[in-house]
Amino acid sequence: MKEQRRSWANLYAWQLTRSGDAPLFRQIYRQIRSAILSQSLRPGTKLPSTRQLASQLKVSRSAVVSAYEQLLAEGYATGKIGSGSYVSSDLPEPVEGQGARRPAKTAARSVATETPLSGDFVDVTVQGEERPFNLGRTLVDIRTMELWRRTSARVFRALGHDHFGYSDPRGLPRLRKAICDYLRAARAVRCEPEQIVVTSGTQHALDLIIRVLRQSDMQAWIEDPGYSLTRQALIAAGVKARPIAVDGQGIDVGAGISSAPRARAVFVTPSHQFPTGVVLAMARRLELLSWARENKAWIVEDDYASEFRYGGRALASLQGLDDSERVIYVGTLNKALFPGLRLGYAVVPPALSKAFVTARYLVDRQPSSLAQAVVADFIEEGHFAGHIRRMRLQYKDQRDVLVAALRQRLGGEITVDPPDQGMHLVAYLRRGRSDVAIERAAGDRGVIVRAMSRMYAAAPKRSALVMGFSGYPRRMIAPAVARLAKVFA
Ligand SMILES: Cc1ncc(COP(=O)(O)O)c(C=O)c1O
Repeated sequence: MKEQRRSWANLYAWQLTRSGDAPLFRQIYRQIRSAILSQSLRPGTKLPSTRQLASQLKVSRSAVVSAYEQLLAEGYATGKIGSGSYVSSDLPEPVEGQGARRPAKTAARSVATETPLSGDFVDVTVQGEERPFNLGRTLVDIRTMELWRRTSARVFRALGHDHFGYSDPRGLPRLRKAICDYLRAARAVRCEPEQIVVTSGTQHALDLIIRVLRQSDMQAWIEDPGYSLTRQALIAAGVKARPIAVDGQGIDVGAGISSAPRARAVFVTPSHQFPTGVVLAMARRLELLSWARENKAWIVEDDYASEFRYGGRALASLQGLDDSERVIYVGTLNKALFPGLRLGYAVVPPALSKAFVTARYLVDRQPSSLAQAVVADFIEEGHFAGHIRRMRLQYKDQRDVLVAALRQRLGGEITVDPPDQGMHLVAYLRRGRSDVAIERAAGDRGVIVRAMSRMYAAAPKRSALVMGFSGYPRRMIAPAVARLAKVFA
């Protein structure tokens, strides 16, 4: 026989007072009725069997049977004693003075107080839509899907005690070693496995970094234009985010020194500036490292999507150039694999290690060991490298198809160059067109383009469309560009 699914009513904290005046059956009846009226037990919920409830309450079965008979007679329950009783979906009108207590929605709303986070400065709409050209989406091909399934199934089959308890807040040693080996080889990061802290992704790492570095009146440089979630995380934590202009060489370090020489930190995307795609020039890298060393400031290097390099000369990580251990390197597996994974990592300089691990422990103790075990196997068995190789080819192809379609359909309206890295491109608008107006009109036609002008804080804005190409197979690209072209017409 199929096993019956347990109902919440089995777990309900039923209580009786034996010294009370009311007979036991009446107390049971009242308790259940009041749980039904207050909607603690929802319509359709299966009530415990009379035998079960009698044993749970340590009363005779006949007391429970009498209570259930009364509930059935009054319409609070339906079904049959012996074969299952349920909370009725068609409840009787409450008798005067015994009205159903509805959840106090309006009260909850009025109690909510204003906090820096209650404004709508962050757009929390889910980015998961299928509509091109959303940013940050990835593709998972059949091969990766199959390997992922197989690896997960094996990890889940071998489920042992190590997965049931608390584990190292920095992450599984095996995964940290695998990440460390990968970063040394692929990004010339100087690291030891002890410095790796597994996070749920870049956003989590940024949060931890801000907690660790935060001081009263703290200032931090951010790139302008830049990644809004870095800026917003800083603002939400009460840090003064000082926007520093980005030019063709990356963040203007000289401008940063003039405007906020005492900043405690700088948040940069040196290998592929977000959103412009500019690579931070070597002279600027050295200037930034030297400023950080002299001012005891910290550099946060967000190396997002560096796995997807399509050409040109890749510069190694900024962290790898740093002799003074002032760089906190941040990477994500949510782009290299897929955003739903929620795993990433930070490479933490030894001086910050204790504080960083403490912050991690206080926020959420540790990452899920099961997901980590799957990723560790995936990397160790070479599937990660294989996935990156295949996706690099696929994303490059999608990039080229998008550039060709944009040039063909909108050559007179935009200027676009294929980026050497990453998952998005920037199409600059000619003729003084408003990117915000195009973003809106394209959205109405089911095409997502992000207005670059909205990614600036203080620097002179450039009008451009930021478009993600990684998440969309080539067959979707040309039709979407055709729809976008209609907006320009
Ligand atoms: C600049 C930048 N860094 C990092 C990420 C990845 O963030 P997460 O790992 O939190 O998904 C993104 C994603 O869009 C990004 O644009």
